Amino acid sequence: MNSKEISDIFNSKFAPFVRPYYGDPLIVSKAEGVHIWDIDGKKYLDAYSGVATVSMGHSNKRINDAVKAQMDRFGHISYIYRFEPAAEYASVLLNKCGGDYSRLFFTNSGSESVDLAIMIARAATASESIFTFSEGYHGGTFLTKFSTGLDTWHAKIEAPPEIFYITTPECVTCRHRTCETSRCICLNKACEKFEQLNRKGLRPIMIVEPVLGVGGIITPPLHYFKMLSEVIDEYNVFLICDEVQTGFGRVGGAFFGFQKFGLKPDIVCMGKAIANGYPLGAVVFKEETSEKVKDMLHFSTFGGNPLSIAAALEVIKLIDEMDILNVVEENGRVFLRDMRLFFEEHTAVKRIRGAGYSVGIDFETDDEAAAALNAARSEGLLVGIGGRKKNVIRVQPPLTFTTDNFHETVEIFKKVLK
Ligand SMILES: Cc1ncc(COP(=O)(O)O)c(C=O)c1O
Repeated sequence: MNSKEISDIFNSKFAPFVRPYYGDPLIVSKAEGVHIWDIDGKKYLDAYSGVATVSMGHSNKRINDAVKAQMDRFGHISYIYRFEPAAEYASVLLNKCGGDYSRLFFTNSGSESVDLAIMIARAATASESIFTFSEGYHGGTFLTKFSTGLDTWHAKIEAPPEIFYITTPECVTCRHRTCETSRCICLNKACEKFEQLNRKGLRPIMIVEPVLGVGGIITPPLHYFKMLSEVIDEYNVFLICDEVQTGFGRVGGAFFGFQKFGLKPDIVCMGKAIANGYPLGAVVFKEETSEKVKDMLHFSTFGGNPLSIAAALEVIKLIDEMDILNVVEENGRVFLRDMRLFFEEHTAVKRIRGAGYSVGIDFETDDEAAAALNAARSEGLLVGIGGRKKNVIRVQPPLTFTTDNFHETVEIFKKVLK
């Protein structure tokens, strides 16, 4: 099939909500390491990694070999049977989460992980009220769509009850600044609701994305997380950390965002980079939570499938061998510094923010962001887009991106933003 035939089928046969990134859609023919080739043979530097997922690079040989070896043993058996790599991976993953976490369930995706986490939280607390950030994104199932604060993602149907949206701590833009001396004004409003629930003997459930990815790489400051932790303790909030995008080294310096920012979630949700793009998610929780849901029945036919588990085991080995947490922290810091140095004074750019290998360029308008997205593609660089108004360029490359790759990215932005 040629480009036109492929695009025609996508346009006429796929659901109308399957929308390509570019007016002239990119049709991929090959991907290797940090590069993607289109159907005409044009090579791109991939600074978006399949939406912050292919962290160990495309077609990673070590991961491919591990998956092929598992394929030759067996590909699918389902949760009704047991197999060694899943047992091994469960121990390795729980170990990365730290001592408090002792139980897990493997899903197929981030959405499924968050959906299950909410279900467990409700079952464990007998509470129905869910609090989530106004710029958060948590997935595409019914419940996770509405737990997503960005209402552009909401389906035009009636929302499930008892979901409250808390102002996102985009603290650099805050006019109040009360958090510098006392509790932050956006948390105060939530605390009033928390108190009402406590008075009824109920625990509020809160979902936090430590860095808000789809919302435009919003990075709350450390003092906000400290304040949030105090509030969580005070009101006995049941905390779910959505680490679908921030997990597995993406934020640098720690395996998960909750570890970097000092949060102590009851449940941790994972997906995306967990298996470098093979479908897998995980929900990790504590023994005390497990006790409360021990009578619950839950199943997933494909969840924790052997091929994805084989990939996931290799991902963790690579993260450790390549010292990814430190590399991401250091290279990410230098990239953020360079991007700010060259572009923060640019008239079209409001600010540049980030953590590790997640950097957002916040443009004044969505048109300017779209123009930058398209111009970057013409110059051979693939980046993403986010933010409530689609006005933020997201740079979320594979964690194997080198200083040379970042240098090339900066040079392309120099041309693009001219
Ligand atoms: C923070 C976060 N949570 C959940 C999801 C949903 O993951 P998936 O698309 O794999 O279902 C995403 C996807 O972008 C995400 O960024």
